[in-house]
Amino acid sequence: MSNAPSRFLVTARAPLTELPAWKRFVVAAQTCAARADELDLIEAPGLVLDASGQRHAPELLAAGEALLEARGFAEQRQRLLAGDEVNVTEHRAAWHTILRAPTAPTDVQAERERMDAWVRRADAERRWRHIVHVGIGGSDWGVRLAVSAFGYAGTWRDVRFVANIDGHAIEGGLAGLDPRDTLVVLVSKSFTTSETLENGARAREWLVAAGLDPADHLVAVTARPERARAWGIPEAQIFRLWDWVGGRFSIWSAVSLTTALSVGSDVLAGLRMGAAAMDAHFAQAPLLANAPVRMALAGIVNRSILGHGSLNIAPYDSRLANLVPYVQQLDMESLGKSVDLAGRPVGVPTGPAVWGMPGTDAQHTFFQWMHQGSDGAPVDFILCSQADHHWASHHRQLLANCLAQREALMRGKTLAQARAECLAEGLTPEQADWLAPHRVHPGGRPNHLIVLPRLSPYSLGALLALYEHRVFTQGVIWGIDPFDQWGVEYGKVLARGIAQALQPVASEARWDSALDTVAQTAATRPADRPSDHDASTCHWIAQLRG
Ligand code: F6P
Repeated sequence: MSNAPSRFLVTARAPLTELPAWKRFVVAAQTCAARADELDLIEAPGLVLDASGQRHAPELLAAGEALLEARGFAEQRQRLLAGDEVNVTEHRAAWHTILRAPTAPTDVQAERERMDAWVRRADAERRWRHIVHVGIGGSDWGVRLAVSAFGYAGTWRDVRFVANIDGHAIEGGLAGLDPRDTLVVLVSKSFTTSETLENGARAREWLVAAGLDPADHLVAVTARPERARAWGIPEAQIFRLWDWVGGRFSIWSAVSLTTALSVGSDVLAGLRMGAAAMDAHFAQAPLLANAPVRMALAGIVNRSILGHGSLNIAPYDSRLANLVPYVQQLDMESLGKSVDLAGRPVGVPTGPAVWGMPGTDAQHTFFQWMHQGSDGAPVDFILCSQADHHWASHHRQLLANCLAQREALMRGKTLAQARAECLAEGLTPEQADWLAPHRVHPGGRPNHLIVLPRLSPYSLGALLALYEHRVFTQGVIWGIDPFDQWGVEYGKVLARGIAQALQPVASEARWDSALDTVAQTAATRPADRPSDHDASTCHWIAQLRG
């Protein structure tokens, strides 16, 4: 990893909205057709991206290329892939791509082999009927996604995920398990995350209560092995990741130990191969035939020019249900920022809210709003050509629903069409005039369709890397740091103080006086409030303490 200074990243770039290339891009997006009549397919490893449902025109594509050039995209992509500092506010690389590179550095390779050997031994010994995976955010979602994608019909090891600090999570996670055959996998890059350490502590107590030595049943995955050791986990059971791997990009590291124990190390190898192939495509494909780049340009149009505040992810495959929160964290933690690298406001709306649900459940939940609501949202439809189950008619209907929803969102239905439809159904002209407006669909809703030949580790790996690079490219265009997460830190700090304040008071007298103080200060003396909290927070601390 080079130590090249990041100064140029901070200072050399003009504010986005002042760039002639940005102004050209805006005009091109505003003047091109809202509805696509031409097929626009981009072939990438492991998948095909159909961008026909996005605004596209030769001038918009040319303006997009010019915009990327003006933002120094090629150089920044090179820095990302070379492991240079790209996380400017934290002075770090974000070198997740090296974790899946066919020839990884020795320490990465060694850790991969150590983990594979550990899993092989556990498999050979038929140990660990139960796995309790304890971790949150990036230390959780990727593993959940891979386990549910490839262990959908069940695996011989029963895997439970415990993320939330909510005591029900750990209670449910441990309920009914045989502690003698349970492995607790504690995953935390920082090994300071309170949810993970609290839940880990409960699991440790549970093991002790069963008369077991917790050291025999605990494994850690972390970038801070010394903290895991101090916590009581033996060296041989600590797997490493590195400071230069962001939490939300850590699926490619030993964070996926649970995946290997559950669905096999081969699945991890396949995920890495697919992602590496997408990395090569991202690095080499011409910009306009580059799937992550094209998705990023469409995302910028939809968010910053057309003003869409959210992006819907609609996987038409139940095995991909956890793709939604996975992309949600990846996208929103990365792009949920409004200042550029120089600390200036970006000047246009940035990362959208990401949400979704697998189809067809989504159709019966919120697609009404997508079709006829006043806002609607761009959609990423995802489907697999091959079903991998035996019920051909289910798959036919699933595909039909996906294509139909997409077509309806694109095509819409005019008032005249709706009226003609009503008349054809036998309504009187008056009835048709009244009902037709209710049946109008504005159409022209932007979407991508991503088609995987089948849900293999390779295609899922490629899909995840597609999203990673799409997010990175949008970060470059907006000029923000997509690798930090300062917004999460503030609430964490406040929570520590409030948790202290919520501790039980020592005596009734102190309790009464605490309530009096809080009530008084909240009601009458906000400026003199004894803590930094607002009146409502003070009120609820007093109410909920104990
Ligand atoms: O949500 C903030 C965050 O730092 C994520 O980026 C990360 O995935 C998660 O917390 C968990 O962090 P750790 O792996 O250090 O416990």
